[in-house]
Amino acid sequence: MAGTTTVGKGASASATSPELVKAMAFLHADEAHAVARLVDWLKIPSISTDPAYKGEVAKAADWAAAQLRELGFQVEVKETGKPAGSGHPIVLAKSAAAVVAEKSKTKANGPHILFYGHYDVQPVDPVNLWDSPPFEPVVREAKPGEAGGTRVVARGAVDDKGQVASFLDALRAWKHATGDATGGVAYTILLEGEEESGSTSLEAFLVAHQTDLKACDVCLISDTGMLGRGRPAITYGVRGLAYTEIILHGPNQDLHSGLWGGRVPNPINELVQILGQMWTWERAVRIPGFYDDVTELSYEERAAWRELNFDPAEALAKIGLPPESDIGESWYTASEREWARPTAEINGIMAGYTGVGAKTVIPSHAMAKVSFRLVPNQTPDKTVSMFFDWLQSKTPPGCRWELKDLHGGHPATCSTDSPTLAAATRALEHAAGRKPDLIKSGGSIPVAGMLRALVGIDTIFMGFGLDDDRVHSPNEKFELDCFRLGARAHAAFIAELKAMT
Ligand code: BES
Ligand code: MN
Ligand code: MN
Repeated sequence: MAGTTTVGKGASASATSPELVKAMAFLHADEAHAVARLVDWLKIPSISTDPAYKGEVAKAADWAAAQLRELGFQVEVKETGKPAGSGHPIVLAKSAAAVVAEKSKTKANGPHILFYGHYDVQPVDPVNLWDSPPFEPVVREAKPGEAGGTRVVARGAVDDKGQVASFLDALRAWKHATGDATGGVAYTILLEGEEESGSTSLEAFLVAHQTDLKACDVCLISDTGMLGRGRPAITYGVRGLAYTEIILHGPNQDLHSGLWGGRVPNPINELVQILGQMWTWERAVRIPGFYDDVTELSYEERAAWRELNFDPAEALAKIGLPPESDIGESWYTASEREWARPTAEINGIMAGYTGVGAKTVIPSHAMAKVSFRLVPNQTPDKTVSMFFDWLQSKTPPGCRWELKDLHGGHPATCSTDSPTLAAATRALEHAAGRKPDLIKSGGSIPVAGMLRALVGIDTIFMGFGLDDDRVHSPNEKFELDCFRLGARAHAAFIAELKAMT
């Protein structure tokens, strides 16, 4: 395992490339247009989980496809799902060098990068908490009391359209500088429209294009964050996810709680009673077997993370919590708990009477959404079956479970001593003037695990978000400093790869 920062072997090609100088100058001069392009894309409400937006999701895919065609890529917008077209489209694009390699059935000269991003977004609710409508992007300064600088506020600003747009701008800059959007480097680009709804069509797509994708050496994703402003980061792993919905059914009808209370199982009481047993008093997960496959953190990794000076109190303050809220398995630090320990979370509970005033009722059933974040070597399938077995073993008398495995994704960690990670490190250092932190993230990006299993490649995450970007929340934003850093880093990465070609 590497240290906190990776120093790439050899000199930085970014520092000596005249083409990159030209590309960087273009980025600087073209920024107003770049922001306008992003705003254009953000106006399309591509909410993948809600069928009402299917047409809008397709429009967002077409928007990206048009950009890539203009940049000289060979582009296809592919239907997905079973039956065909029931899923959201995948945009698949190949750079000139990737097309040449494919036609001559040879490996590209130098590294072949698979860039992955997603153009779908999360739902916007609660919409009344937005200061401006989520799909009417606003470019504005920070308000008094807000940290940071000029930002774009809209759903999808940082997750993930803004980050993908920064990559597209780097391509545009290279096209301007050299006539070729990737400077002769082989790039395959895959833009998904179902990431926020569980990537359900992606696996079949990857299987169908397996041979094609095996031409790629490594995947690069810009859909993660940094530890702070001006602190570039490479994320070398994300957690996995297993997401379930559980319903406990009791009586065949709602009951008067005076007449029946104390005589029959109340599904809400029983459900919360059982879910309350999911953690020990030390906040470890209690489901038998849950930790069996967990890879223990190494001493080296813990030591490297300590050097990052991750400040849990500062992070908590931003979300309105005092330092004593830094809770969890007490023998691990906050970053260790986020990056390397699995969790169980109740994401929602719905049951009984939740309207205005009071109603004395015992409902016939109670529902909860329960998900698990997974770390290396755990798998979603095994986790879900352990959870369901545990629930079954606790079924209250006369009750019955309805158990649904909604979606999941494997955890993914990449090698920290690959030549491409070293190239990304040099590119970030050149773009930001500072060595990147080598971090992990507690979030999940299902494609990374699928690529490892189906295509046999690693994923490197080079993300530009901040922890106060309000990802998935009202007033999501992406700061122009981060947008700019993204474009510069992707442009420098191309210079680094070109030097390896
Ligand atoms: N981009 C996020 C994940 C993320 C955010 C990773 C910030 C690291 C830092 C991604 O779009 C996301 O939201 N993933 C979902 C999983 C998906 C299966 C719904 C998640 O992590 O909950
Ligand atoms: Mn994302
Ligand atoms: Mn997301």
